[in-house]
Amino acid sequence: MLSEVLLVSAPGKVILHGEHAVVHGKVALAVALNLRTFLRLQPHSNGKVCLNLPNIGVKRAWDVAELQLQDTSFLEQGDATAPTAEQVEKLKEVAGITQDGAKPDGLAVLAFLYLYLSICRKQRALPSLDITVWSQLPTGASLGSSAAYSACMAAALLTACEEIPNPQKDGVSASRWAVEDLELINKWAFQGERMIHGNPSGVDNAVSTWGGVLRFQQGKISFLERPLVLKILLTNTKVPRSTKTLVASVRSRLLKFPEIVTPLLTSINAISLECERTLGEMAVAPAPEHYLVLEELIDMNQHHLNALGVGHASLDQLCRVTMAHGLHSKLTGAGGGGCGITLLRPDLEQPELEAMKQALNDCGFDCWETSIGAPGISIHSAAFLDPSVRQALDGP
Ligand code: MEV
Repeated sequence: MLSEVLLVSAPGKVILHGEHAVVHGKVALAVALNLRTFLRLQPHSNGKVCLNLPNIGVKRAWDVAELQLQDTSFLEQGDATAPTAEQVEKLKEVAGITQDGAKPDGLAVLAFLYLYLSICRKQRALPSLDITVWSQLPTGASLGSSAAYSACMAAALLTACEEIPNPQKDGVSASRWAVEDLELINKWAFQGERMIHGNPSGVDNAVSTWGGVLRFQQGKISFLERPLVLKILLTNTKVPRSTKTLVASVRSRLLKFPEIVTPLLTSINAISLECERTLGEMAVAPAPEHYLVLEELIDMNQHHLNALGVGHASLDQLCRVTMAHGLHSKLTGAGGGGCGITLLRPDLEQPELEAMKQALNDCGFDCWETSIGAPGISIHSAAFLDPSVRQALDGP
């Protein structure tokens, strides 16, 4: 067991195309965001394991000796299969979760305990740890906050338990793990996501782990060349939604109307492929016509997602406001509120952009201009960590 403090971070994501369809085996294109989740793991010897999540007001502590006495043999099958509903119920008992475990704070605690008990069970004794996680990502907004949380947790616990080496180099601000270690991190991050979302495709944890711009289909990942010209405005409608519920609603629509919904999913797949092809061309020789193609793809996909039943009045409003400025938007992630993306053409004048952002703020939305293709899960040297992040992890 390592004795040093570990500081890790993982990015959130936006899905350009393929949300929901990816759950049914289709292609998704996703990019890592420059908004990150940070985790500090501090080993100690006070016989407790403590979890602090300042963003959602969670502060929990368990006696390691008590956890050690619990029968957690139900976790033995490890990383091979999704936790069953029965396992989740047992874990809630172990966690002493009496309130509604389906709320974000309950799910975050469950995912932590699942990863802690599963990853650390190979140690002679469960370790005493203090873990704080703080995020720049809003929760429940489709930006992959739970995947970034699970990836950070998996990476820190695997490193602390020496299941993977600590890649940190002296005098370097951020280091990354070797490919085989990232694969293990991704596998465990997926299990954490399953605790939170039930039946996720795995695209969110893949982006948090690998970073960059990637194509994801049925667990297979490949990387796209980064089109330097692509700028995106990210808008949070602040309408809360549940990914689990929205994914389940698409599944039931598919079961109810297979002949109507299957072609929609096939068409979304074709949109992702066309977008991938266009981004490939743009990486070589960007031209204004490429933007026209990307805008048409955005519009078509937004209509498809509405037909799948995952739209929302707030997202329609986002599309209308940006269209009034000649720009095209679609929901990103699970929909039902949450976030949308707007493609910013390079010819867009700054005053026009500012006017549009003001109009979106007037609707009660938050927006950020984002740079895409951020690095995946990383480990940081404390000396180089941004003071604001250090302060957020240290708490008031
Ligand atoms: C959520 O970020 C994306 C969905 O496609 C769900 C998933 O892929 O697990 C809606």
